[in-house]
Amino acid sequence: MRKVAIVAAGMTRFGELWQTSLRDLFREAAGEALRNAGVERLDSIYVGNMSAGQFVGQEHLGPLFADQLGLAGVAATRVESACASGGAALRTAFFEVASGASDLVLAAGVEKMNDGGDVTAVLATAADQENEAYHGITFPGLYAMIARAHMHACGTTEKDLAAVSVKNHRHGALNPKAQFRREVALEEVMSSSLVAEPLRLLHCSPVSDGAAAVLLCPLDQARKYTDRPVLIRGSGCATAPMALADRKDPSHLDAVQLAAERAYEMAGIGPEDIQLAEVHDCFSIAEICCIEALGLVERGLGGRAAGSGVTALGGRTPVNTSGGLKSKGHPVGATGIAQAIEVFEQLRGEAGKRQVQGARIGLAQNMGGSGASCVVHVFERV
Ligand code: COA
Repeated sequence: MRKVAIVAAGMTRFGELWQTSLRDLFREAAGEALRNAGVERLDSIYVGNMSAGQFVGQEHLGPLFADQLGLAGVAATRVESACASGGAALRTAFFEVASGASDLVLAAGVEKMNDGGDVTAVLATAADQENEAYHGITFPGLYAMIARAHMHACGTTEKDLAAVSVKNHRHGALNPKAQFRREVALEEVMSSSLVAEPLRLLHCSPVSDGAAAVLLCPLDQARKYTDRPVLIRGSGCATAPMALADRKDPSHLDAVQLAAERAYEMAGIGPEDIQLAEVHDCFSIAEICCIEALGLVERGLGGRAAGSGVTALGGRTPVNTSGGLKSKGHPVGATGIAQAIEVFEQLRGEAGKRQVQGARIGLAQNMGGSGASCVVHVFERV
């Protein structure tokens, strides 16, 4: 396999973007990535998208988006793995370049969630229909059960959950692309409206619109496009049973652990080498379970990591310096690419007030549904 680098990125602001259509979002992010690399052609395009058909009635995104870039004729395909669609698109693009089949591939992600459709019901299509969604469970409900299981198994408290939101809002306040650019206090989180007990409004990622795109090429061609390429050193993907009831321990995310082990093995490193991570905090409890499954903290200690400062900017392993899904926003299909962009910018020293000084190796972890699918990438500054 050839070594693969990311050489350019583009991203819209995340938020309620009423004036911008699905195709406009893609064109803005992808166009910025192409301009940043100074390229006008591509070998292929992969677009991560969960559910444009149900959110805005648009399927068949590949050809539509190729045409939007003025590149009709190029190979272009949509990739779907629920909220992990962006990570899955990146992984597909990575292997196409690594295999030698293509030299210049765009991996993008896009979602427009605010324009119609019953968002909660559309998102619930990523749960087990017969055994979960049919009975009325929603994603806040599923993650509330994961939270209860974690509290029971590890002694995690409501304050621990709230500390994740406080940290991520603090980081997001420094990110010009974030949906919520304001800090929140612990008391504010803990007294916000209950959504699914014990999860409150300020434990939840919001409903968001947005797009993100990165450009990949073989490492030995990267200097044509940038003087600061970022190597994709490892890629791992895994699955777990869809229904929470079918998992041995609902408070442990098996797919995250497996995907991470595969990514670490390809990268030839371990979790102790990770200097910063973007993880899938669709709800505050998810960040706690993810950092444990990634091996960034010991099992059972995830709950204390945010409050003690271990995962905050300036801490041992900063997590979600972008603000995470909680504060930056979670346009589901775009999230995996946006996570990769945060790590890309950090490793290039371009993260401004969010910069982790001297960062050389970073990780992005993107998962689908309640953790039934997961994609992990390890990146390194060249
Ligand atoms: N965090 C912080 N503030 C939020 C928020 C969030 N997640 N969601 C909404 N708000 C704010 C809005 O900005 C608005 O503020 P304003 O009154 O100052 O304008 C207010 O709360 C009400 O917004 P509204 O859109 O009416 O909220 P809602 O009750 O319809 O939705 C949730 C709130 C939590 C139910 C919704 O954001 C949600 O479903 N989130 C989870 C999404 C999800 O499941 N993603 C997939 C994960 S697997």
